[in-house]
Amino acid sequence: MTNRPRPAEASTAVPSNRTAELIARAARVMTSRQSNVRALPEPSIFMERGQGQRTWDVDGNEFLDFAIAMGPGIWGHGHREYLDAVYQQFERLMFVQSGACQSELEVELAEKIAEHVPSAERVRFHLSGSEAVQMVFRLARAYTGRPLFLRFGGHYHGWLDNVLGGSLNPDPNAIPFAVDTDKDIFFTAGRATGAIAESLMIPWNDIGALERTLQIHGPKISVAIMEPINSNGGGCRPKPGYLEAARDLCRKHGVLLCFDEIITGFRTTLGGAQQLLGVTPDLTIFGKAIAGGVPLAAIAGRSDVFDLFRTNRVVGAGTFNAFPVAMAAGLVTMRMLERDQGAIYARRNALQTRLEDGLKKAAINAGHAMMTQGMPGNFCSHFADKEAFWTSGEVAAAADLPKAIRFRALLREEGILQGLGNRWFVSFALTEQDVDDAIARASKALQRL
Ligand SMILES: Cc1ncc(COP(=O)(O)O)c(C=O)c1O
Repeated sequence: MTNRPRPAEASTAVPSNRTAELIARAARVMTSRQSNVRALPEPSIFMERGQGQRTWDVDGNEFLDFAIAMGPGIWGHGHREYLDAVYQQFERLMFVQSGACQSELEVELAEKIAEHVPSAERVRFHLSGSEAVQMVFRLARAYTGRPLFLRFGGHYHGWLDNVLGGSLNPDPNAIPFAVDTDKDIFFTAGRATGAIAESLMIPWNDIGALERTLQIHGPKISVAIMEPINSNGGGCRPKPGYLEAARDLCRKHGVLLCFDEIITGFRTTLGGAQQLLGVTPDLTIFGKAIAGGVPLAAIAGRSDVFDLFRTNRVVGAGTFNAFPVAMAAGLVTMRMLERDQGAIYARRNALQTRLEDGLKKAAINAGHAMMTQGMPGNFCSHFADKEAFWTSGEVAAAADLPKAIRFRALLREEGILQGLGNRWFVSFALTEQDVDDAIARASKALQRL
C-alpha cells in the first residue's frame, strides 16, 4: 500500500503502521469484521476521515473511495449542506417513541417519496434493507395467502436466512428451489431449517423460465422479488421487454411484483429504476442512498396491500423506525436531488461516462479486454471482450474473475477502493480531478496486472 502524504493541513504526526496495531487489538476482542462474507479482501483498512469521494486511513494513505459504504454515501464524505441538516436535527429532536409518536419529518419524507416514485402510494420506514425485505415477505404472504416467494439467481436481498445465497437448481426441470451449498460465498452454517425452501429461485432475464414457474407454482407464490437492474449480479440490465413481461405475468398469476431498489433507488433517478425503465411494481424497497449515509430503509407500494398495516392484520415494529435524524437526512437528500430539476444527475452521469471510458481506454492500452455495465451511479468492470452480460451466470462463465480479484488488490495498492463485486459507486461529489486521478491510478494497476 502506498503511503501518500496527507493534505498540508493534516500532514504532521501521522502515526506509521497504525493499521497493524489496530488489527492486532481487534483480534483480541473481536472475531472478524462486521461483515464477513468470504469475498472480502484482506487485510482490513481502518479509515479515519473522508472528504468528497476520497478517504484517508489511520496511516495517512489516501483512497479514491468508489465503495462509499457500498452505496449509501451519494453525497460523498463531509458534504456541508447534508451534514448541517443532520447535525441540526440531532440537536432539535433525536428520537421519538416509535409507534406511539411521530414527527412531521416522516410525513414530509413519505410525501416526497410518493411524489417521485411511481409505485409509492403508501410508504413505511425501517432501518436496514434486510429488515425491509422481510417486511415485504410478511405483507405479501398476508395479502395473497400464499406461502412462498420467488427470487432470481445473482440477486441479493440481505443477510437473513431465507434470502442469503443459495444457487439455482442445476436441473431446469426440477422444482426450482434454491440449493444451499457450501461452495456458495454466501453459504452459512446455522441457517434456520426450511428457510432456504421458502423461496423458489430461477434465472433472471429469462421470461420463459418465469412463465413456466408461474404456470406450475403460481398459486403458492406470494411475491416475486428482483433488483430491476442487477447490480449485485454484475451490473446486468434487464433485456428489452423483460420487466414489462414479468409485470404482466405476475398480474396474470396474482403474484405481487416487488422491485428491490436498495441500490437503484434515488441513485439512478429520483423515481428509481422503475421510473428510468418505465415499469411499475406493486411493492418497492429502498435503502442505502435514501438517506445519504444515515441508516434508513423504506418499503412503498399499493395502498390496498398496505391497508393490512392500517387494519393491524400485519404487524411491523422497530425501535428506530422513522427516527427523526434519519428522516432529516432523507429529506435533505431529496431536496438536494430535486434541485434544478435534477441537474445534479446529469453532471454526475457525464463524469461517470468519462470514468468508464477512461478505464476502458486504460485497459486497452495495457493489453486487457475490459467492459463496463450497470446504471447511472453504479457500474461494474469486467475483464471480458463482450458488449453486455445479461445474468450473473454469464458473468461467472465468461468474465475473468481471478484477474478481477488481482485488479482489485492492485487498485487498492494504487489508492482506489472498489465496491465488492467489481463495482464502482459514483457519488454526486465526484470531480473531474477525481476522475482523472482515478484513471491515472487505475492505469498503473492495469499496467501491473
Ligand atoms: C439489492 C439489495 N437488497 C438488500 C440489501 C440488504 O440491505 P442491508 O445491507 O441494509 O441490510 C442490499 C445490501 O447490499 C442490496 O444490495
